[in-house]
Amino acid sequence: MVQIEFSYWHPVCDSRQVADEPLSALLLDLPLVLWRDEDGVAHALHDKCPHRGARLSLGRVCHGQLQCAYHGWTFNHQGSCTLIPAMPQLTPTQAHQAKTVAVREHMGLVWVCLDAENADNAVGPAFEAEKNANLRKFNAGPYDVATSAPRIVENFLDMSHFSFVHDGWLGESSHCEIPEIELQEHEAGFKVTNAQVWQPNTSALSIQPGMVTYSYEVMHPYSAVLTKVPDAQSGVPAGYQESIIVLIQPLTSEQSRVWFRMAVADFDAEMEDLLAFQDKIFFQDKPVLESQLPRQLPLTAGVEANVGSDKASVAYRRFLKKQGITFGVC
Ligand code: FES
Ligand SMILES: [Fe+2]
Repeated sequence: MVQIEFSYWHPVCDSRQVADEPLSALLLDLPLVLWRDEDGVAHALHDKCPHRGARLSLGRVCHGQLQCAYHGWTFNHQGSCTLIPAMPQLTPTQAHQAKTVAVREHMGLVWVCLDAENADNAVGPAFEAEKNANLRKFNAGPYDVATSAPRIVENFLDMSHFSFVHDGWLGESSHCEIPEIELQEHEAGFKVTNAQVWQPNTSALSIQPGMVTYSYEVMHPYSAVLTKVPDAQSGVPAGYQESIIVLIQPLTSEQSRVWFRMAVADFDAEMEDLLAFQDKIFFQDKPVLESQLPRQLPLTAGVEANVGSDKASVAYRRFLKKQGITFGVC
């Protein structure tokens, strides 16, 4: 049976990492191999040779095709074997085929859908801010975290930790209380709107504390979009908004790689400062995330206690259950 997680697109590496040398990657416990052909198109296969099970990523790229290091069987991007050097006259068949996956590049990342035959045309979760020419886009991370992807998404949706984990940055100990949020659940996921939070230092541009309106959207089990609109008090220019999509590569059920795609109205700040801000915040989260047990997110009611300010987390757990997600949850 194909796992439901296989039907989604997942990021597996930065586009710049894929060149004309095989690159190994891990997704949902499955080793993959990626490479770029002579036209610059990225491809991927399961990292296992159908001949004797050697890792194809140990091989080399030969005229745009992937050659196994062990006996030189060569595969095109559709996984078809095109050459068996020990028997050059033999026409390889379906039985000599390597397992394929679907590959696309999007937002500076390489994405894979393991269910190649049924891969959706739209790659990954929607990120509306990507189309907005008035916003500056860049990627932050990746960050490797010893926990499940759902624990990381839930942390991204959780505002009541700001005053503790991000005291002096995204929250302040004198402003812990979280006002009621608005939640709308729909067919494909859910939205949180009008979440108000007091932030001492909302972005690389803020010069003083202010109220920030947050909204979230979840439409993918291992991703969420956040939009922040600070009020004028924080010193950011009028019309400033920031959208962030967190994109998680579930390496194993308890190991994840995290990217952030950012879309900000700030075209002047040095990229170094924008990235340093994101690193600062994420490295505040990381030790807490890695301390949480169990590492897989419990979906059974009563295993962890919830209160009203956990409304977004509870909606996320409900969403994972409804989608039939089993990887990274318990
Ligand atoms: S194991 Fe790959 S060619 Fe033999
Ligand atoms: Fe955080």
